Amino acid sequence: MTPLDRYHAEQERAKAEYEANRRAAYEEEQRRALEAKKRAYLEKQERQRAAKARRAAARRRVFISRLILFAVLFAIIFTVAAIAVGISFSSTKKTETDVESYEYLYVYDAEDDDANLSVSVSDAVSVKDGVRTVDFSIIADMASMTVVGSSASLKFYTGEEECVILTEGSRTAVVNSNSCELDTEVWVDDDGDFWVPVSFVEDYVTGVSVTVVTAGDTDGEAENSVTVALTGDTVSFTLKESDTIEPITEDTYPGASDTTEPAETTMIELPTIEFTADLSDYEQYMDIGTSDEYLILVNTTHTLDEDYVPTDLVDVVYTRDDGRNTQQMRLYAEKALEAMFIELFANGYDGVGSSGYPVSVTSGYRSYSYQISLFNSYVEREMANDSSLTLSEAEALVATYSARAGTSEHQTGLCADLHNLSSAQQTFANEEAYEWLVENCWKFGFILRFPEDKEDITGIEFEPWHYRYVGRYHAYIIMSEGLCLEEYVEMLSEEE
Ligand code: DAL
Ligand code: ZN
Repeated sequence: MTPLDRYHAEQERAKAEYEANRRAAYEEEQRRALEAKKRAYLEKQERQRAAKARRAAARRRVFISRLILFAVLFAIIFTVAAIAVGISFSSTKKTETDVESYEYLYVYDAEDDDANLSVSVSDAVSVKDGVRTVDFSIIADMASMTVVGSSASLKFYTGEEECVILTEGSRTAVVNSNSCELDTEVWVDDDGDFWVPVSFVEDYVTGVSVTVVTAGDTDGEAENSVTVALTGDTVSFTLKESDTIEPITEDTYPGASDTTEPAETTMIELPTIEFTADLSDYEQYMDIGTSDEYLILVNTTHTLDEDYVPTDLVDVVYTRDDGRNTQQMRLYAEKALEAMFIELFANGYDGVGSSGYPVSVTSGYRSYSYQISLFNSYVEREMANDSSLTLSEAEALVATYSARAGTSEHQTGLCADLHNLSSAQQTFANEEAYEWLVENCWKFGFILRFPEDKEDITGIEFEPWHYRYVGRYHAYIIMSEGLCLEEYVEMLSEEE
């Protein structure tokens, strides 16, 4: 080996040694860096574990404290509820006891065994404004009085043809056309019975005794009892001599001018009526005897005030179901109309007419203001159809089929438009249902109000759809005699 070769070999060995050292240093550095990373990772892991453990511990604490809070709240609510139930239970018991101890036994002692009645009524119910009241409807039953009128105002006639008028919520009664102040207002119970102060019966009804026995005053009789008994053959309404009474007028007592009494001797006998359907529940509404309570005449010469609104309006069950408002009528008229529909349907007139409806009510009670808008809409329609019409000509034309406000009996709530067409048209007279209605309406207390041959008297064109309630007795005479209401009312006034 030459010196140059040795030199190169030495160089090569030194270079290799340098390379080996450098690689070893690099690897050591890498190992340390890796080690540091690993440590950092493990530390981070440890920190995360610790943080997680802390959070879990915190959650546990929250959960436990909520659990404790919930348990405490539950315990409180449970305790309060238990106390409340306890109180209510004890107060129910207390009320029952109170009511029981304040119950009065009402004994209605009639001569007729069937009419005898005993009912327990609590003080809370029977005493109004500190005044003890008694069921006058039961007394009327015991004394066989004739009762007519609406649900809000009834007339009680004795066999002697005397009359008491009681009105729900009123502190005034009318006794044989004289007004009497009551100690408390007349009230009506769930059965529709009229209750009056005991003092009213004591003061104004002879032939009936009322004995009130309160606790501690038993005297051998039942404690807390009211005994009502007939004391003679006849019952009459007699004013105590000491009473000062004011003759009443229509102003002081609406309806008081109606003093019609059953005139059985002059009563026209009605044909026997047989219905297909069972209408016994409706009989009281269809047949109101000779009462003229619903014989109100409304036309261009007999007008209603702008603010007249009947007080006993109820929903009409057979209102046409086409989205219109449920129509309303006065109670008696509506109930009688229900009966007419039931019988009409029972007789097969329940098919769907050309309007898509069986016979149904399209219009009942109409307010004064509604009648104005209805009348005006017809006037507009007439003027649009015939531009040569002046306003007054159009109004005169409309008045032959639609009444001006205040002259429409729709405002009485006693009539209904009923048919099976899309709108009220005289062609309804061609329908079989019309034939049935015109023949049978009187049985339910209705009349055809605007007959074909009476247009010159009613001033209104033939309306085969418009039926008016007057009660069966008057309806029979009107329909069988072929009269219109104007003629009948005039005939009655001539009879007087
Ligand atoms: N259609 C009748 C006349 C009324 O409007 O009262
Ligand atoms: Zn009508």
